[in-house]
Amino acid sequence: MCGIVGYTGKDLALPIILGALERLEYRGYDSAGVALIEDGKLIIEKKAGKLRELVKALWGKNYKAKIGIGHTRWATHGSPTDQNAHPHTDQKRQFAVVHNGIIENYIELREELKREGVSFYSDTDTEVIAHLIARNYEGDLLDAVQRTIQKLKGAFAFAVITVHEPERIVCAKSGSPLIVGLGEGENFLASDIPAILPYTRKVIVLDDGEIADITPEGVNVYNFSGEPVSKDVMITPWNIVSAEKSGFKHFMLKEIYEQPKALNDTIKGFFSTEGTIPFSLKDFRRVLIVACGTSYHAGLVGKYWIERFANVPVEVVYASEFRYGHFPVGEKDLVIGISQSGETIDTKFALQSAKERGAFTVGLVNVVGSAIDRESDFTLYTHAGPEIGVAATKTFSAQLAVLYALGARESKEREELYALLRGVPALVESALELSEGVEKVADKYTKAKDFLYLGRYLSYPIALEGALKLKEISYIHAEGYPAGEMKHGPIALIDESMPVMLVAPKDRVYEKMLSNLEEILARKGKVISVGFVNDDVLKKKSRDFMPVPEVHETLTPFVTIIPLQLFAYHIASKLGLDVDQPRNLAKTVTVE
Ligand code: M6R
Repeated sequence: MCGIVGYTGKDLALPIILGALERLEYRGYDSAGVALIEDGKLIIEKKAGKLRELVKALWGKNYKAKIGIGHTRWATHGSPTDQNAHPHTDQKRQFAVVHNGIIENYIELREELKREGVSFYSDTDTEVIAHLIARNYEGDLLDAVQRTIQKLKGAFAFAVITVHEPERIVCAKSGSPLIVGLGEGENFLASDIPAILPYTRKVIVLDDGEIADITPEGVNVYNFSGEPVSKDVMITPWNIVSAEKSGFKHFMLKEIYEQPKALNDTIKGFFSTEGTIPFSLKDFRRVLIVACGTSYHAGLVGKYWIERFANVPVEVVYASEFRYGHFPVGEKDLVIGISQSGETIDTKFALQSAKERGAFTVGLVNVVGSAIDRESDFTLYTHAGPEIGVAATKTFSAQLAVLYALGARESKEREELYALLRGVPALVESALELSEGVEKVADKYTKAKDFLYLGRYLSYPIALEGALKLKEISYIHAEGYPAGEMKHGPIALIDESMPVMLVAPKDRVYEKMLSNLEEILARKGKVISVGFVNDDVLKKKSRDFMPVPEVHETLTPFVTIIPLQLFAYHIASKLGLDVDQPRNLAKTVTVE
């Protein structure tokens, strides 16, 4: 869950590495560091805290190095201190390593190295890699890395530089993501594509079990046995504008406003490749959706659509529960793994396990070339562009669009449903316009300690998603619940201090939601509601009302999520919190 980066070329390495780390900071932000080689010496600068702490520490230091590696950390082994920050070095400070992942056998390796006289300065698992490479080095960094890898267990992507070969970076991948960027007289490596977008769109996506040997002149890729591997060069469709804030205060706000475009691109992308989908949902006895967090909520919405449009039963399971549960799954099942990053380890493992048991696996990802993209039998893509804010917003809407289309594809009313879907970007645009007042509503609730979010039918997963958005960026406790279940427990929570967010568009359960509203009012709960703009009844009965455009009853999730995203955003922003990098979280979760 950390971000790593490397540069070797003709320009000053430090500003390039710091810029790349800024674009990778969403992956972890407990500490940051760089290693450079200048005048034959290794320079290490690292600092606990966000990248800006490192940048402050570097003020006035004009390093001239043209090679370097960098790291932004989400701590696993060892607390977030200066000492535990990467890069890590060997004892003689001749080799520097940055690493994303976990070396599972590091305790054993550490003990072995200690017995040989090595002393350790950090609590990290990574430090063993630096010491092992130094011990295995006999004049060829590639060879030393190859020999070191044989001893490592776990998931890793790491990069190493050495004073002995001051233009060369060697990096290796097993489990954690790693790409190489190709420039003119310069080359790059990074955990993710946005890091290198200002310099190149030519990318090699490394597979597990591969090592890249990088110099300014070229890149060679080998497998862990040392055999050369020929790799395709991909031209990424992403550009640097999509990885910058473009005048918005936060990436999250920018990404909320990018939803019409993300939807438009995703819907077009689906229709242009629809003919290549090699299966019908109806060929299977069941569809199983595995995912985590926001992607799981998209899956829950998808269940209603697929069951309604295609009449195929759908189960949605948290990927982390699927893997260690006893779900009967086999060749009659279609298993869809939904993941923005395509790297979430729980989802990846759940898909692998389903595949091993004979199921047909489909990835629904935003990142082309990601692990889930490569390992699934077939991939569907969202075309939302890079999402930098840790809170998923535009990728959620884009996932919804693909799931809607996938279900609609099997329906007798396919053409009508497709036409409805084509109109969604414009509806979301108008939902954004109608949400101008959300900031004022949010103003009233910054001191609330708890929230209850309620919805039924398609609005139930939207209530869950709205609650997740609020808790992850504002640190306010929020619970999403099916409104019909309120009377079975949560109603006991309601009193005059409890704000209740009701997601109540006019759909088949609208009247039921109005009854829930009365029950809440009778217990003096404060109701904030999300409803159709012309719904005077709901508006009158609610303390606060957040309007959305009136839409066909199958499309409500696309519009009702908009005020909820903005509500969470404005509360967190008013509380002065770090909206894009909330505490303890990382965008890509590659640990179990
Ligand atoms: O990359 P993925 O979609 O697999 O990520 C899954 C979750 O980690 C992610 O949705 C997380 O819950 C977000 N922070 C939610 O905003």
